Amino acid sequence: MISPICTYLTTFAALTATVYSMPQIGDISSTLSVAVSVTSTSTAATSTSTGACNNSPDLCSQSYGSITHMGAHDSSFLRDSSTGNSVAGNQYYNATVALDAGIRLLQAQVHDKDGAIELCHTTCELLDAGTLQDWLVAIKYWMDNNANEVVTILLVNSDNKEASEFGTVFAASGIDTYGYTPSGSGWPTLQEMISANTRLVTFIASITADSSYSYLLNEFDYVFETAYEVTSLSGFNCTLDRPTSQSSASAAISSGLLPLMNHFAYTSLTSSIMIPDVSDIATTNSPSTNTTGALGLHAQNCQSEWGTKPVFVLVDFFNEGPAIDTADTMNDVSDPVGRQSVAAGAAVEVSGALRTSSSGGVGALVAFAAAALVFA
Ligand SMILES: *[C@@H]1O[C@H](CO)[C@@H](O)[C@H](O)[C@H]1NC(C)=O
Ligand SMILES: *[C@@H]1O[C@H](CO)[C@@H](O)[C@H](O)[C@H]1NC(C)=O
Ligand SMILES: *[C@@H]1O[C@H](CO)[C@@H](O)[C@H](O)[C@H]1NC(C)=O
Repeated sequence: MISPICTYLTTFAALTATVYSMPQIGDISSTLSVAVSVTSTSTAATSTSTGACNNSPDLCSQSYGSITHMGAHDSSFLRDSSTGNSVAGNQYYNATVALDAGIRLLQAQVHDKDGAIELCHTTCELLDAGTLQDWLVAIKYWMDNNANEVVTILLVNSDNKEASEFGTVFAASGIDTYGYTPSGSGWPTLQEMISANTRLVTFIASITADSSYSYLLNEFDYVFETAYEVTSLSGFNCTLDRPTSQSSASAAISSGLLPLMNHFAYTSLTSSIMIPDVSDIATTNSPSTNTTGALGLHAQNCQSEWGTKPVFVLVDFFNEGPAIDTADTMNDVSDPVGRQSVAAGAAVEVSGALRTSSSGGVGALVAFAAAALVFA
């Protein structure tokens, strides 16, 4: 399964070895917007018996499949100090901070690394965010401390790992105990999932279902998606892109699939390399319903076209907008509880030389670009 940025970058993956043996790239005059955390968020909120489910008492009685779950696209791939502010990063803040801020869908991409399942963006040389197991441990810790919250994970299985391999990692992290297995008779309410303590829905694109790990769900048996390779703010629509086995969004909805609205844009770093479009992010993630490219407008359009709201939404840089506002609008939630706000990632313009850093990130991508130019 190909995931967004990689279709653009795969071409250059073969050049990585060369890139890394090149001398340090200095003096590449460029202006890049990098994230600076302006706020430090405190430790995870502990919501126990607030009477709220997913930040609102009004959502407890609603079906998992009838509310909007706001999601962080490539949630493990950060543009922060841990990656040298990698321009390949899709988020300023990690998955735990995202959960604190109300994000309830965490998407990421996994690859094989020496037999282990590793969170890597396109290739492990470009951006390696560590093992899936460590990431799941952090999410499990958050779920332990937030017992009224239903969380969804969506993993792109880039190297076609088996369900049993994922199952081993999920079990080792301990998060498998929260795994929800569909009963075949429609989605339960959030409260039912919370009461049963099966509060984690896991979709993988794609795996062959394995009854020993029945909580690992093959994404396209349950979900359909809109296009994910959007390169212009006027390019968002509500047309079904995957799975191709469904002829249209309405056919997919009739078959019981839940809609996932991709809402992130790419921009060109070079003629061949696309990176997350951060310069338009204030518009892209805006709750506005009258601005081209805005999240609020896209969600409203899809709700109107489909006759049902987007159940899942994926955005880059979730704290911008903030994206969660659009989920609240979709869910008719006016007074969310138990959330921690994350300030909009103040972007500062950093001009001048970019250098390769030991942590990869900017250096790796700029080196990718340089290699593309050198070998073009
Ligand atoms: C996010 O960062 C915080 C602070 O460094 C850390 O405690 C937490 O485990 C991280 N979460 C994930 C999912 O890596
Ligand atoms: C929907 O958007 C995608 C991405 O911008 C585009 O490739 C596709 O042609 C669009 N579909 C329609 C029917 O407009
Ligand atoms: C767009 O919507 C905002 C409120 O969300 C409103 O203040 C503004 O006037 C609207 N602009 C147009 C051109 O309709």
